[in-house]
Amino acid sequence: MSKNDTIIILDFGSQYTQLIARRVREVGVFSVILPCDIDIDRIKLLNPKGIILSGGPETVTESDTPKINKALFDTKIPLLGICYGMQTMVQELGGSVIQSNKREFGHANIEKTSDSKLFDGINFQKNSLNVWMSHGDKVSTLPDSFNAIAKSENCPIAGFAHSEEAWFGLQFHPEVTHTNEGIKIIENFVYKICNCEKNWDITDIIDGMKSYVNSKVKNEKVILGLSGGVDSSVVAMLLYQCIKENLTCIFVDNGLLRLNEVEEVLDIFSEVGINVHLSSASDIFLSRLEGIKDPEQKRIIIGNAFIEVFEEEAKKIDNVNWLAQGTIYPDVIESSASETGNASVIKSHHNVGGLPERMNLNLLEPLRDLFKDEVRNIGKNLGVPSKILGRHPFPGPGLAIRIMGEVTKERLDILRIADKIFIDELINANLYDNLGQAFVVYLPVKSVGVVGDTRRYEDVLALRAVTTVDFMTATWADLPYGFIAKVSNRIVNEISQISRVVYDCTGKPPATIEWE
Ligand code: XMP
Repeated sequence: MSKNDTIIILDFGSQYTQLIARRVREVGVFSVILPCDIDIDRIKLLNPKGIILSGGPETVTESDTPKINKALFDTKIPLLGICYGMQTMVQELGGSVIQSNKREFGHANIEKTSDSKLFDGINFQKNSLNVWMSHGDKVSTLPDSFNAIAKSENCPIAGFAHSEEAWFGLQFHPEVTHTNEGIKIIENFVYKICNCEKNWDITDIIDGMKSYVNSKVKNEKVILGLSGGVDSSVVAMLLYQCIKENLTCIFVDNGLLRLNEVEEVLDIFSEVGINVHLSSASDIFLSRLEGIKDPEQKRIIIGNAFIEVFEEEAKKIDNVNWLAQGTIYPDVIESSASETGNASVIKSHHNVGGLPERMNLNLLEPLRDLFKDEVRNIGKNLGVPSKILGRHPFPGPGLAIRIMGEVTKERLDILRIADKIFIDELINANLYDNLGQAFVVYLPVKSVGVVGDTRRYEDVLALRAVTTVDFMTATWADLPYGFIAKVSNRIVNEISQISRVVYDCTGKPPATIEWE
């Protein structure tokens, strides 16, 4: 892949770190995220054109919190500190940062106090720009040779530029869409300050991936676990276009999938001509889940059963050398903790594989460098059907973690029908594409109802719908009451084992998106 010009994002633990990296790529330059305390030699190896220091949840005013590695100042690599990143730059060079008694969170207006390359071509209406702030501490004095370039009402130094070096800082978040012209600020840093060339374009990425796959795999055989989700489907299509019938996909039906999912996935891929081996293993999964109520235990059982079934299926295919996986960049970043253990890691991850360690095969992960939206874009270019690309994510343990308590065949069947009702109605009402995720949760709690003249004493279902950018935080969706009423009516009328439907109005945080 053409990664000549690279911007490094040093992660101080901000919820927006991935967003910064995505914005840099959106404007056409490759970016990587590394822990804030990474060794300077590893940074130099990548020969970055610029470094962005992310925000973070901690305070630079305490001694044991992460700080910028001062050696970075000797490298002459352009630096942009955002929020915490700005504060640690200032503090390490002799300026001061104070704890503010007033936390500033949300929209703020900044005024430009001095011209700067960072603000080139930016329209400060009446000298003011609406930006997104999220901080407690603030810079109170700047080190020598630093000039303030912006201020806000609560923050006299909302941005700085060094008079000679390419060092910049912003107290607000240009990566967040709420900041007007934020993307232009990132463009200015990347192109006007770091002098990057545009090198991150979808056709280049695809060409690069194809030649990577061809050069590695040559005429050897590859197996891939297909789930019907976006990532594995895009890998399947990419590999098929490179190696045709040397690719075999293995699709495990664990009995925890959505209504008609198995048939739909098989149809879609057989239409393209891709070889898919179906392993109908629901009995294995359901028998092992019998009596299990604990969510983490469910996950472990399902994960282990998957590995076993997959291995058995793989043995049926001769002369395989490669195992392909749909690992994407967020999986990689989320698995890489802080180098020294000093930086706080606020993310958790779910898809810890296990297969590659067990199978004696070479590992092929062509999407390892890509964010989800890039994967979707590539999928679209490769001809992956929009039905797959536009689908909400579905967890590996499937419906098992959407049934509170024990998973039974009967509960699964009920949940599948209810889920289809909810999703079909969302699609019909043109609401589906605006949501990050929507699904139904099964609550084995008996509640009384009346249907016609008959008393019903049955279980409860909860509808869950959220909007989200990155699934790390989410807002419960403000669906129209009339719509919720329609779905609720349909569920209670069409499924006699359900007496009541409720709507989940909890955000993440404090709740998670899934109930288990
Ligand atoms: P939570 O519930 O942690 O979910 O807010 C965030 C995203 O992760 C998905 N999720 C999982 N995906 N295996 C998966 O493959 C899991 O065990 C798992 N748990 C949650 C969830 O659907 C949402 O998209």
